[in-house]
Amino acid sequence: MRLAHMSDLHILDLNGVRLKRFANRRAIGAVNVFLNRAAEYRGDILECLVEDLLKEEPDHIVVSGDVSNMALESEFERIFHLLKLLGGYDRISLVPGNHDYYTDRAAETRRFEKYFFPFMFKSDFSDLDVDIYPYTKRIGDVLLVGVNSATRTVPPFSYGSVGDRQLSLLEHALSSRAAESCLTVLVLHHAMHRRDVFTETTSGLIHRERLLSVIEKQRVDLVLYGHDHVGRVWKRESEGHTTHFVCCGSSTRLNDDPDLVAKYRIITVDQGRIRRIDTKVYDPTTRKFVML
Ligand SMILES: [Fe+2]
Ligand SMILES: [Fe+2]
Repeated sequence: MRLAHMSDLHILDLNGVRLKRFANRRAIGAVNVFLNRAAEYRGDILECLVEDLLKEEPDHIVVSGDVSNMALESEFERIFHLLKLLGGYDRISLVPGNHDYYTDRAAETRRFEKYFFPFMFKSDFSDLDVDIYPYTKRIGDVLLVGVNSATRTVPPFSYGSVGDRQLSLLEHALSSRAAESCLTVLVLHHAMHRRDVFTETTSGLIHRERLLSVIEKQRVDLVLYGHDHVGRVWKRESEGHTTHFVCCGSSTRLNDDPDLVAKYRIITVDQGRIRRIDTKVYDPTTRKFVML
């Protein structure tokens, strides 16, 4: 089985958006968006990525949040239709990132969940479906658990939180009989590796140590996450068990630095074990993703 992992798409789409909507905190973010991000995180690269995934045909595709830039309907609409080309519930799983809860209104109306619910659950979204995280999904011999770390924050902050309720439900899901017989994959947005002090203070994951102890105790096999746009692949050993951590980095970024350019991961699982973690990067000259 092969799992593909993409993250931090940050797709900007102002189609049909009226300027008066920028009279809130988006005005602050918009400066950043227009000056730095619009040309760098690109819809055309996402289209190339979708094309590449259609050729690669992984068994499942995981998207670890920040799909949008400002949590606008036009952004979610565009991303939903592109991801839909790759399949539905059986082929795609995703969790929100901080940018997908960019405004109070987007978070309060659960805009991300309304758009992407069909990738997380077999049923249709209902306003009664509160507290949907963590959700679990069985994909062959894999048990995937989607955790929500996205939190509404005010710039320059973009920290995340998992919270007591999710931590205890997560522990319960991971100690289930289904988890015992499966390779367990946990997906969340915020970074699980430690970064510099400033970055950790402004955009770290609250309760990370507690989440790490659940991961260790419940012998999680693979953790897929984003938020850090550089990306990193690392592992942690405990009592003879290895947990692999994969931070994707951004999958749509146009950048001269090979560490920052758009990438996605392909994780090969065989007989309940992780056999390979490959990376495909975007080559701007051919406009194709190539194996690193
Ligand atoms: Fe991001
Ligand atoms: Fe993020």
